[in-house]
Amino acid sequence: MKAFSIERYGKQPGRLTEAPAPVVGEHDVLVQVRASSVNVLDAKIAKGEFKLILPYALPLTLGNDLAGVVLSVGAAVRRFKPGDEVYARPPQQRIGTFAERIAVHEDALARKPDNITMEQAAALPLVALTAWQVLVETAKLKKGQKVFIHAGSGGVGSIAIQLAKHLGAFVATTTSTANVEWVKALGADVVVDYKQQAFETVLRDYDVVLNSLGPDALAKSLKILKPGGQLISISGPPTPAFARAQNLPWLLGLVMGVLSSGIRRKARKQGVSYDFVFMRASGAQLDEITTLVESGIIRPVIDRTFPFESTAAALDYVEQGRAKGKVVITMETAPPDAHPAG
Ligand SMILES: NC(=O)c1ccc[n+]([C@@H]2O[C@H](COP(=O)([O-])OP(=O)(O)OC[C@H]3O[C@@H](n4cnc5c(N)ncnc54)[C@H](OP(=O)(O)O)[C@@H]3O)[C@@H](O)[C@H]2O)c1
Repeated sequence: MKAFSIERYGKQPGRLTEAPAPVVGEHDVLVQVRASSVNVLDAKIAKGEFKLILPYALPLTLGNDLAGVVLSVGAAVRRFKPGDEVYARPPQQRIGTFAERIAVHEDALARKPDNITMEQAAALPLVALTAWQVLVETAKLKKGQKVFIHAGSGGVGSIAIQLAKHLGAFVATTTSTANVEWVKALGADVVVDYKQQAFETVLRDYDVVLNSLGPDALAKSLKILKPGGQLISISGPPTPAFARAQNLPWLLGLVMGVLSSGIRRKARKQGVSYDFVFMRASGAQLDEITTLVESGIIRPVIDRTFPFESTAAALDYVEQGRAKGKVVITMETAPPDAHPAG
């Protein structure tokens, strides 16, 4: 089958190659991928930035999001059957959605929302699960609380705004001048144009900050939190708690302790908490997202769509950091050969 893979880590973005057919375990579901979407994570993995945390074997097929149709299921799978339309962020150990087919553990899969296309569904899993795990699971965001979401026009930001509004929060965000009205339309109550104003000079007394930017934005975020507030970062630095949760070697935990010591100390001094969230696959949480999408509460946001053959260009576009919502890749829909489940 065709797959977009890397042979080594580095600046080369990868290429379309012939890859072996997926091995379907007893709890796996073999999916014909109809669409995928690009995440910043894909480019970071290709460069080798995650090789200590996620030690993949090479060659590696990239891709962390899928929407598609079930071709066959492993012997123990009861919840899915051939023909079902599904979507997922596969477990981090077994990525590879930039491919014609992938075998995904059933626990990571969910039924695709009925009211959106395959392309729209592929735009959701990784960013929607990230928003859910930050706002619902970690922040336990409550009605009436104030949340500041950095980069509201990004893949994560555009979904996090919609989810936070659904949870009843007052939402502030940042974007550049051209995107201000567009981000307001997603539901944000306050939109700070970061080209004109520094967010830390206009926002006060927030309960939660979702940071997806660099260390400067992270440190400045402390200034807008009220005592008891929560600073949650998805762009680092990782913490020793994260190292323990990932079962990483103690030395990596030590390094993460050092990397995050500054922000943890400043947060403690100010009476706020600091957490690093590294999203994980969850079909159960994706089921909750399906319900929200079908109720019209969350809508996927697509900037551009690229054909499978142009995956390298799609990765390059996302790396430029200007995408408004998500960048989607569409696969051919020709029926596959027989693919027996194992
Ligand atoms: N830990 C995790 O589990 C996890 C999960 C998902 C993502 N992430 C990380 O989170 C980060 C964001 O991911 P993403 O998918 O949302 O990225 P993205 O979609 O590529 O973000 C692009 C958006 O960021 C905006 N932006 C850039 N600089 C900005 C600034 N200084 N202030 C405000 N907005 C700015 C851009 O808007 P303008 O064009 O208007 O500037 C653009 O719309 C990445 O580093 C990614 O690796 C981590």
